[in-house]
Amino acid sequence: MAEALKLWRNAQLATCDDSMRVIERGAMLTRGGRIEWVGAEANLPAAPSGDPYEQHDLGGAWLTPGLIDCHTHLVFAGTRAGEYAQRLRGRSYAEIARSGGGILATMRAVRGASPQELFEASAPRLQALLAEGVTTVEIKSGYGLTLPDEAKMLRTARALEQAYPVTIKTTFLAAHTVPPEFTGRADAYIDTIAKEWLPALHSEGLIDAVDVFCESIGFSVAQSERLFDAAIALKLPVKMHAEQLTNLGGTQMATRHRALSCDHLEYATAADAAALASAGTVAVLLPIAFYCLADDHKPPIAALRAAGTSLAIASDCNPGSAPATSLLLTMSMGTRLFGLTSEEALAGVTRNAARALGLQGERGTLATGQAADFVIWNVGSIEELGYWIGFNPRRTVVRAGRILP
Ligand code: NIG
Ligand code: FE
Repeated sequence: MAEALKLWRNAQLATCDDSMRVIERGAMLTRGGRIEWVGAEANLPAAPSGDPYEQHDLGGAWLTPGLIDCHTHLVFAGTRAGEYAQRLRGRSYAEIARSGGGILATMRAVRGASPQELFEASAPRLQALLAEGVTTVEIKSGYGLTLPDEAKMLRTARALEQAYPVTIKTTFLAAHTVPPEFTGRADAYIDTIAKEWLPALHSEGLIDAVDVFCESIGFSVAQSERLFDAAIALKLPVKMHAEQLTNLGGTQMATRHRALSCDHLEYATAADAAALASAGTVAVLLPIAFYCLADDHKPPIAALRAAGTSLAIASDCNPGSAPATSLLLTMSMGTRLFGLTSEEALAGVTRNAARALGLQGERGTLATGQAADFVIWNVGSIEELGYWIGFNPRRTVVRAGRILP
């Protein structure tokens, strides 16, 4: 028997569609996990006879799609609070990385954690995101840096999806830094992950996309391209940590490979913005990493906007540059630090975040056929989502058509 239709009425709908249309006295019909109809309540289709709606009067509340955090490294063990203290005293992130700390410090903690320990360390961070109305999260590997430890991270991400009401997309980021087993042999490392680890983990169904830290302290453009070629040969989409600390030219190469997204982009140029726009590659901005690293170089927002690039924002939740589990704080920082408008920030955690994960056909807007994942907010205006700092105005989260407890 078909699942019952549910009517969600008397709401202000922030559809987050291409024109960011708002429907003041809106209603939605859902069936099972999908949206069947969205529109003005006045145009609501009549209930089919014998199939009465289950009705939910939302009392005029604002409603958005479920939020999407499209760039996280939330599966990790340990912290790097000691490094943060060093950075407060003036040591740079790059210096700490070059002296064997940074990503390698977290790698040691992750290698030493059992699957259970890794799950238990990561689950509270995921729960914190979900409490704010996040219903889809991307999680990267990249702290294991051996085949079994990368597998352990990716399996932990899949286990979190089984345990919590969330859609998780996994990204393979073994090309995060060169591990000690390959010191001085970055090319050999890239060959190993491209030719051995990637096919092995992909055949286990653990990889949804492939990422690389293309940076002076990461991998070169040529190395990144070899990895991308291997990913694309397996029909896996690619993305890149690009132009975060310097401009290496990764964005130009990534857009030639039709990357889903280029992320960070503090040192991107107007030419990079144009390349992103023409490739349909999403620019994912990570304002919390910018804040925590106290950089003074901002992404070229005006050029990105002028080029018509799709802009997303994400928490970057990780133990080094962004010990953060709040997408609402990300919106605040995206607006205040980078100068995004409230509307751009909202599009950045809904429609454009979905695009950054290749999910635009399924999630990120309120439209017929999309997943019935949405959030009802205790706000008087939708700008409040990026306005509060440390206050959570989430009222109710509906996931796959069901109200979460
Ligand atoms: O997105 N830039 C590389 N990756 C992360 C930081 C990882 C870490 O410091 O542990 C980022 O900022
Ligand atoms: Fe990152």
